[in-house]
Amino acid sequence: MPKKIRLGILGGGGDSLIGVLHRVASQINDNYEITGAVFNPDFKANKAFAREIDVPLNRIYKDFDTLVEEEMKLPENERIQVCSILTPNFLHFPMAKKLLDNGFHVICEKPMTTSLAEAKTLQKAHKKAGTVFALTHTYTGYPMVRQMREMIKKGELGKIHKIDARYYQGWINTIIHDKKKRSSVWRLDPKKAGISSCMGDIGVHAFNLVEYTTGLKVKSLLCDFNYLYKDNKMDVDGTVLIRLDDHVKGVIRSSQVATGEENGLAIAIYGEKGALRWEQERPNFLYKMSDTEPTQIYKPGHEYNSKLSLDGTKLPAGHPEGIFDSMANIYLGAAKAIRGKKYDDGEFPTMEDGVRGMNFIEATVASHKAKNTWVKLMK
Ligand SMILES: NC(=O)c1ccc[n+]([C@@H]2O[C@H](COP(=O)([O-])OP(=O)(O)OC[C@H]3O[C@@H](n4cnc5c(N)ncnc54)[C@H](O)[C@@H]3O)[C@@H](O)[C@H]2O)c1
Repeated sequence: MPKKIRLGILGGGGDSLIGVLHRVASQINDNYEITGAVFNPDFKANKAFAREIDVPLNRIYKDFDTLVEEEMKLPENERIQVCSILTPNFLHFPMAKKLLDNGFHVICEKPMTTSLAEAKTLQKAHKKAGTVFALTHTYTGYPMVRQMREMIKKGELGKIHKIDARYYQGWINTIIHDKKKRSSVWRLDPKKAGISSCMGDIGVHAFNLVEYTTGLKVKSLLCDFNYLYKDNKMDVDGTVLIRLDDHVKGVIRSSQVATGEENGLAIAIYGEKGALRWEQERPNFLYKMSDTEPTQIYKPGHEYNSKLSLDGTKLPAGHPEGIFDSMANIYLGAAKAIRGKKYDDGEFPTMEDGVRGMNFIEATVASHKAKNTWVKLMK
């Protein structure tokens, strides 16, 4: 058994949404050991949480800069090798940049940065560092999403002509209608979240799934946002028309005020020979549709699935795996890369996906501001 990879965690404290997902996912395939952390900007809360989950206190630091400084003093075979960045968005760039500049591997939450300019700077730092950078677009880790990618790559749908991706949540509905409440949430604060709430937080996952599953690039888009209130600076709903290759068009619909919706991410890809449809809330069913045959349902763990899909399944068919396993698959891919082992490029989203994501978010804002005009994305 090779030695475990020494993992540092930034953010993701006991008060956070996403911390538990990363902690559990990092343990699922037995590759990582949580060695050090800054779980929380408050040192007391940071140490209390470390005690609670049994991370040794000698590697719990008062802040991020101290973590880097102190870890760099340690011999390389004791030093944290990779850090997961799970803080609010505005801290992703400064943290990732400093980590890369000091030779660490990085696992980073999306959106990668708060602007395209930062994303490009990070890309340069990553090239220079030559270390591993994995972006946690969690949903690419699902076996049936991976199966979708492989079936499309093999040409099973024929020429693609229509894409429909949707990410609907309703939770901001409980906040947005109250003036005081809507100014107290970091996701609605441009200083902490970046220029977009809905597209930056969830629309970007749908965008990533479009490019991940089809292998195509969005070339241009037209976006219409809803802010609901004049004093609210951040989109809470948006519809984006997308153009990919010639005659390949589609739509990304995203909302945080879709009343009653929970985590309604779904994608459908329609081609001349067939179509595929997948929904995050029922992740173990991939529907293949045709105009001439009955609908087929693909499920994880069966030999008819691709290697990429099967590599993301740990148990025999019929034992449901979910979001923890999906994130664990991304951690597994990153572990292979960190260990210098062979891996498939579908195993984890990369720096390039992060730059594409920031390009998408900025383009949606630019399109809306220019009174819903078409905006080109980078090649
Ligand atoms: N991949 C996904 O599906 C997914 C889902 C949810 C959130 N996210 C992303 O994860 C990130 C965190 O989101 P969340 O919902 O967990 O946020 P949250 O507000 O629930 O938690 C943020 C955590 O970061 C800590 N923190 C804040 N400032 C810090 C600092 N300076 N140093 C160390 N820790 C600090 C807070 O104490 C808290 O524990 C965001 O970028 C978000 O977009 C991704």
